[in-house]
Amino acid sequence: MDILVTRRLTLRPPLDVDAEAITAALQDTNVTRMLTSVPNPYGISDAVEWIKKAQNNSNDLHFCIYRQKLLGVVSIRHSDSGLPDLGYWLERSAWGQGLMSEAARATVSHAFRKFGHDRITSGAYEDNRASTTILQKLGFQTEGAIVDHNATRNCDVTCNRMVLTREKFEQKFGSLDTSAAA
Ligand SMILES: CC(C)(COP(=O)(O)OP(=O)(O)OC[C@H]1O[C@@H](n2cnc3c(N)ncnc32)[C@H](O)[C@@H]1OP(=O)(O)O)[C@@H](O)C(=O)NCCC(=O)NCCS
Repeated sequence: MDILVTRRLTLRPPLDVDAEAITAALQDTNVTRMLTSVPNPYGISDAVEWIKKAQNNSNDLHFCIYRQKLLGVVSIRHSDSGLPDLGYWLERSAWGQGLMSEAARATVSHAFRKFGHDRITSGAYEDNRASTTILQKLGFQTEGAIVDHNATRNCDVTCNRMVLTREKFEQKFGSLDTSAAA
């Protein structure tokens, strides 16, 4: 089982008991309006199903983010292209403290080491300044855009697709062959 510990956070795989907290957090449309692949309305059965899939899929990384309680999720899933793809969310009360920057950096660092890929992809809606900033700080660069249907907004949204190379990440944070980039 992969468990990551950062300065303020513990990241551990989802457990069955997380379903209620995940469901409660994803009632907030401020969160879900920025997410692809999240049903609207979102119910406990959606969380239970997501947890089950995460537990049964050893090819991907799924972490619940904890600081005294569950604050959110960060995942790296292999997309249809075969590349690992980063996604995340935090409950509203946890925003604006640099927590996702911390969680995403640790997850990306772990994924580069674990999977051995030289690229990780991600994406952010064009109106998602906070997420775009996080990705840019990690070294992601925009490579294009797609149109995504967002269930909360019930409309199509332009999503900028971004790519991070291992080389760029190491330039920013140090070699992945040492503990420096953790
Ligand atoms: C996106 C999200 C995870 C950010 O989490 P967070 O912990 O608040 O983010 P951080 O504090 O680590 O970093 C946010 C950065 O964006 C910046 N930022 C926030 N709002 C911004 C805005 N409107 N315009 C420009 N920059 C903004 C912050 O200043 C910060 O940059 P800094 O570290 O240089 O100061 C959180 O807002 C969230 O869960 N949103 C809903 C779901 C979502 O958007 N998921 C990502 C889908 S791509």
